Amino acid sequence: MSQRTFVIIKPDAVRRGLVGEVLSRYEAKGLTIVAMEHRTIDASQADEHYAEHVEQPWYPPLRDFVTSGPLVAAILEGDEAIEVVRLINGATDGRKAAPGTIRGDLSLSNRENLVHGSDSPESAEREIKLWFPSL
Ligand code: CDP
Ligand code: MG
Repeated sequence: MSQRTFVIIKPDAVRRGLVGEVLSRYEAKGLTIVAMEHRTIDASQADEHYAEHVEQPWYPPLRDFVTSGPLVAAILEGDEAIEVVRLINGATDGRKAAPGTIRGDLSLSNRENLVHGSDSPESAEREIKLWFPSL
């Protein structure tokens, strides 16, 4: 069943010139890019996106990181896209993520871990509305 998920290629990936590398992994898997935009977000947009985390002690540095430069926001579509993207992204901590995943191959950080992917159908719907309200 075709499904849509929301992805962020985070500012560390943009700075490191890894946008193409990350997108190529999603595309090679068979996912379709149905929307994509290069943009920079402010603190209040970060707070909305990460609403579930704003009370965490590690949230202020995360907010600084995600607002530190341009990112690429995208909607990907395909069979079980939400779970497939999470598997391709790998575990949150790049130091522990499995080799073969984006984070496992390319990140050495628990914060600067290159990508975001929606974690459930409810999150995907909320995030797509938040980032691409016209879709
Ligand atoms: O992105 P994911 O769903 O795998 O992880 P999360 O637990 O929902 O956390 C969201 C994001 O917060 C992570 O992707 C990291 O960038 C960041 N984070 C952090 O800076 N420090 C932590 N201890 C945990 C997460
Ligand atoms: Mg999460």
